[in-house]
Amino acid sequence: MAMRKSDREVFLGSVLGNEQPPAHLARAVIEEKLRNAIIDGSLPSGTALRQQELATLFGVSRMPVREALRQLEAQSLLRVETHKGAVVAPLITEDAVDAYALRILLESEALRLSIPFLDAEDLAAARAYIEQLEVETDYAQIGRLNRMFHLSLYAKTANKRLMVLVEQGLNEEERFLRFNLASMGLGKLSQDDHWELLRLAEAKDVEQVVAALQHHLNRGVQAVTRYLSDKAAEASKPSRSRKKTPA
Ligand code: NI
Repeated sequence: MAMRKSDREVFLGSVLGNEQPPAHLARAVIEEKLRNAIIDGSLPSGTALRQQELATLFGVSRMPVREALRQLEAQSLLRVETHKGAVVAPLITEDAVDAYALRILLESEALRLSIPFLDAEDLAAARAYIEQLEVETDYAQIGRLNRMFHLSLYAKTANKRLMVLVEQGLNEEERFLRFNLASMGLGKLSQDDHWELLRLAEAKDVEQVVAALQHHLNRGVQAVTRYLSDKAAEASKPSRSRKKTPA
């Protein structure tokens, strides 16, 4: 969707507000605002984010904007396209199934490293997230709570670089979930999985909890596969409005 520059600036202003953060907080504030707007869909995929426009909007130099965009790119929320610069990444890409396969590897390892060291406080935090998920009805919150629950099980993973990759995968999933939870009917099933994960984590049964996580993430693989095949079917459909073929 091509917008005239002034329209784009008005649009960005309406989505991001016009708060002018103090210089030392600029990068963090800009990153957080963009991140929320991308995850909640108010900045749709394909939206171009230009450094100068954002710098003007926030009343800062380009440097903190560039840094914020770089962080978001590292989290797979933006991608850099030739001629367009940074654009909001698609909700889900053709390689999403590969992404899940990688998450299964990474998160299994994060669990193995973390589970033996989880203390009562960590487990209480995990339980609190599941309990909130039981009553939450706002999909944006459900996506966030799901991510926080999973992260809580990795709380004692000491490998920071592994956790950067794990968080990247969880961010991607959160975005997808926000838009698709309603249609996927995963809600109850996922919660059964979450309770089971917690029970096994409390029992410190590392291999069982890893198996349960793999089972849980495979539901995601199925949901993504369905989403992509529906989308492909949609795209290959001739425009139906013209002629109706009798059944
Ligand atoms: Ni989950």
